[in-house]
Amino acid sequence: MPASNVSSRARELRRQIARHDKLYYGEAQPEITDREYDALLRELVDLEAAHPDLSTPDSPTRRVAGKPLEGFQQVHHHVPMQSLDNTYSLEEADEFVARVERLLPGIPLAWTIEPKVDGVALSLTYRGGLLELAATRGDGTTGDDVTQNIRTIRSIPLKLEGEVPELIEIRGEVYLPKKKFCALNTEREKEGEALFANPRNAAAGSLKLLDSSVVSRRGLSAVFYGLGAVEGGKAPQTQAELLRWLKSIGLPVVPKCWEAVDEAEVRKAIAALESIRHDFAFETDGAVIKLDAFKRRDQAGTTSKAPRWAMAYKYEAERERTKLNGITVQVGRMGTLTPVAELEPVQIAGSRVARATLHNEEEIARKDIRIGDWVFVEKAGEVIPAVVGVDTAARTGREKKFQMPDACPSCGSKVFRDPELTAVRCLNPDCPAQIRRRIEHFAARGAMDIEGLGEAMVDQLVTAGLVRALPDIYALQAEKVSALERMGEKSTANLLAGIEESKGQPLWRLLFGLGIMHVGVSVARKLAGKFHTLGQVASASVEALESTEDIGGVVAKEIHDFFRLDHNRQLIESLRQHGLNFGEHDEHSVPASQQLAGETWVLTGTLGRPRDEVAELIRRHGGTVSGSVSKKTSYVLAGEEAGSKMAKAKSLGVPVVDEATLRGRLDA
Ligand code: IVH
Repeated sequence: MPASNVSSRARELRRQIARHDKLYYGEAQPEITDREYDALLRELVDLEAAHPDLSTPDSPTRRVAGKPLEGFQQVHHHVPMQSLDNTYSLEEADEFVARVERLLPGIPLAWTIEPKVDGVALSLTYRGGLLELAATRGDGTTGDDVTQNIRTIRSIPLKLEGEVPELIEIRGEVYLPKKKFCALNTEREKEGEALFANPRNAAAGSLKLLDSSVVSRRGLSAVFYGLGAVEGGKAPQTQAELLRWLKSIGLPVVPKCWEAVDEAEVRKAIAALESIRHDFAFETDGAVIKLDAFKRRDQAGTTSKAPRWAMAYKYEAERERTKLNGITVQVGRMGTLTPVAELEPVQIAGSRVARATLHNEEEIARKDIRIGDWVFVEKAGEVIPAVVGVDTAARTGREKKFQMPDACPSCGSKVFRDPELTAVRCLNPDCPAQIRRRIEHFAARGAMDIEGLGEAMVDQLVTAGLVRALPDIYALQAEKVSALERMGEKSTANLLAGIEESKGQPLWRLLFGLGIMHVGVSVARKLAGKFHTLGQVASASVEALESTEDIGGVVAKEIHDFFRLDHNRQLIESLRQHGLNFGEHDEHSVPASQQLAGETWVLTGTLGRPRDEVAELIRRHGGTVSGSVSKKTSYVLAGEEAGSKMAKAKSLGVPVVDEATLRGRLDA
């Protein structure tokens, strides 16, 4: 293609991609499929890689995650980011309006009422229309430079549309959509990672990640509602205008805003917002009441902490009062006993709540929760039910204090108190409740992926006494299984076939399935990649384990200790006798061919399969995988959103290929 055509094609692609980003994120009305979108982006990545001089600061290829950072730089806000005074009382909201009216006597005032987005405050700086900086509030004057992470959020434009001031600071909130929050926690639970308490914590935690490729996968969004510094150009003069203008220059704004002229109208708006707030993608914890005209805001002024012209009215979290019928105790996979509130069912924020975790006995004592109490239940982050307090006035004297049992409710063995972890644990490795949980985990999709071996099936097998320990699932007999309730011949055959098939699962799945504390999928993969067989992992020293990528001292010790406990050794020996693949049969430990012998490959971008797997495939065929491109690189394998490595390959004349090419060579 002639150079001029290339550059006009790149421009056209950028224009189209920006338009589709807006349709997708700004208006939720995509016109093309994800696949078509990816093809456009891919074409642009390729063009820019081949012609690095064509790359522009606002190119969507810049959203591709950069190198992990060491830490965040501190940056100064041109105009400080203040906080807001807040109240839970409508009378105080009235008083606020009246107070501002007294401050500005004789001037008719207009108010705007907006959702108070429960996210993480963010300031964007655009210079010459291009995104230059994204910073958190920090102490209000100085915040963290989170630009690299913010660039991965596709709803935030890298370039503003239309006429904009030379320098402009735009203020708003980053949030994790409620749906993404639920999915993220489900995922983390599977991986044995700590859960986020609510979407705001999850958003804050995500922004603090030093690796922007992880941030990019979280699916953060943002909305904007305010201005900081404005230099070299004009900006709107009222809030209503500002929201319209922000939208017109390409920024997502709060989805709704009401106007009011007095206390009564302000109250009406607060009520109207309350009735629809659960429909927003973000959590709304209140209404922000602001003077509409910026000139009036200047006249009202600010205190050192908060403006005098705005106030947040906070909604009470949706809370219901219900009876605590009992407290049951659940035994987790690792033997931890968790008290659970058994509630008289109530509807809260759109769903039925009958149970809520009470975490541990300290928590119960701190809130003085007693069995038979009338309690208040809320949904933390509109999602997870929690008992937040007790209606002590309703006590009759017949309520009973809860005591954590001294014996495990499942197996009856004496429990162990771990004062440091405020945890009570059952240490009996043969405890049926733990076995149930462990088998469920072992068979789960992310682990050994045994079809048909879900919670209900595990429960049946354990209850019927057919399974007393994990290895027993490999000794199940068809006659016994088909005698169970609702188990026909066909479902029995399917279950047994699934169990049999699982014996060949790769080592990392087995390692994850064993349920070693802190060993999630990614640690399991790293272990398998480094040690190759279960025997090698089991006999590795703490130091050897610790020298594995992503494994720190605590995790290394946990893994080391796991393999030194007698019952775990027996478990593993028994699994070996049943013929499970301990890595010896993993494709990666046995060279499959020498097709790629002598070749060095560099992987970049998002591949169709996890990068570890593709790397293993290359190694199995005799190739070497390296992290950086040099003259010695034989091939760069580029997936979607490939960035600088691909550009470097092109400049060094290293061939860039895709996964299909690799597969083609290996099939040949
Ligand atoms: S206006 C001078 N509008 O809530 C500060 N703030 O608790 C003007 N917030 O610091 C802020 N939604 O981070 C404003 N619609 C909204 C908001 C909002 C959320 C945040 C903001 C503020 C904090 C105060």
